[in-house]
Amino acid sequence: MQIDNATILWNQPLGGTCYRIGITVSAQYAYATPGQFVMLRLPNQTDPLLRRPFSIHRLIESENGILQGIEILVKVIGRITRRLSFCQPGDTVDILGPLGHGFSIPSGCSRIFMAAGGIGVAPMLFLATSLFKKKVDLSRCILFLGGRTKSDILCQADFSALNLPIIVTTDDGSMGDQCLITHPLEVSAGEQRPDIILACGPSGMLACVAGIAESMNIPCQVSIETAMACGIGACLGCAVKSRSPDAGRLHVCLDGPVLDSRQIDFLH
Ligand SMILES: Cc1cc2nc3c(=O)[nH]c(=O)nc-3n(C[C@H](O)[C@H](O)[C@H](O)COP(=O)(O)OP(=O)(O)OC[C@H]3O[C@@H](n4cnc5c(N)ncnc54)[C@H](O)[C@@H]3O)c2cc1C
Ligand code: FES
Repeated sequence: MQIDNATILWNQPLGGTCYRIGITVSAQYAYATPGQFVMLRLPNQTDPLLRRPFSIHRLIESENGILQGIEILVKVIGRITRRLSFCQPGDTVDILGPLGHGFSIPSGCSRIFMAAGGIGVAPMLFLATSLFKKKVDLSRCILFLGGRTKSDILCQADFSALNLPIIVTTDDGSMGDQCLITHPLEVSAGEQRPDIILACGPSGMLACVAGIAESMNIPCQVSIETAMACGIGACLGCAVKSRSPDAGRLHVCLDGPVLDSRQIDFLH
């Protein structure tokens, strides 16, 4: 983990309020794993003072596999995400990473279900690409992509290029079935019994995914989104309650952001 003064390579609007931003990074990002994140801020930024967390969306590699940078997906929410949406190629950002623990897929898992809600799709492309490189047959896996509306459904073409089947739902029915993404996930998990479910999205969705997995006794890992002030275990602001009384609180930035769903007490 280190701080880089990095350069924006591109900033591509994806429709709605989302942007795909390419950034130069140091060579150590070649060892980053899907689910890890970076803490990012703009130069001379004083409001807000602190960096913000973003998942690594994709490693940018040359044709011969040399790392050129990373991509992040940004959904405009507030101050930093709005400023990032205006960034131009050549602008600089201050980036700390790669941070945290990513998805850890036990050997022997071949039927893998991935579930993403909204901007929770961000780490899933890195995950799917990494599985593809490990020669996992993605045609046996499914990506469940949910959003409030059509413009929340991102990167479908990238996943299709990996031969990964996709099921889409939206709350308003503007794309895919009109229901929560957890509905087709539950039906398909009952029919196909995946070896593992990996999910990223809002906490309500993750709690529901965790409940489905637990009721079917399927291992499940979830990438948790909490407010983060430091990203390195110093501020304790990212704590979530553990189900185990011995573990007390888990620090999402250090213990996660990807955690075994059975570790988390979603009710607190
Ligand atoms: C591990 C991790 C990975 C993440 N990955 C991504 C990613 O890949 N892409 C991405 O776009 N975002 C991601 N996020 C969320 C992102 O960090 C926040 O959207 C960002 O910090 C908002 O900063 P801001 O300065 O724009 O908003 P602020 O000005 O700090 O906040 C504006 C308003 O939005 C609220 N708010 C802040 N964060 C969120 C949130 N996450 N959801 C809803 N409301 C919020 C605040 O309470 C405030 O009311 C991730 C978060 C975590 C913890
Ligand atoms: S964000 Fe500071 S301890 Fe986790």
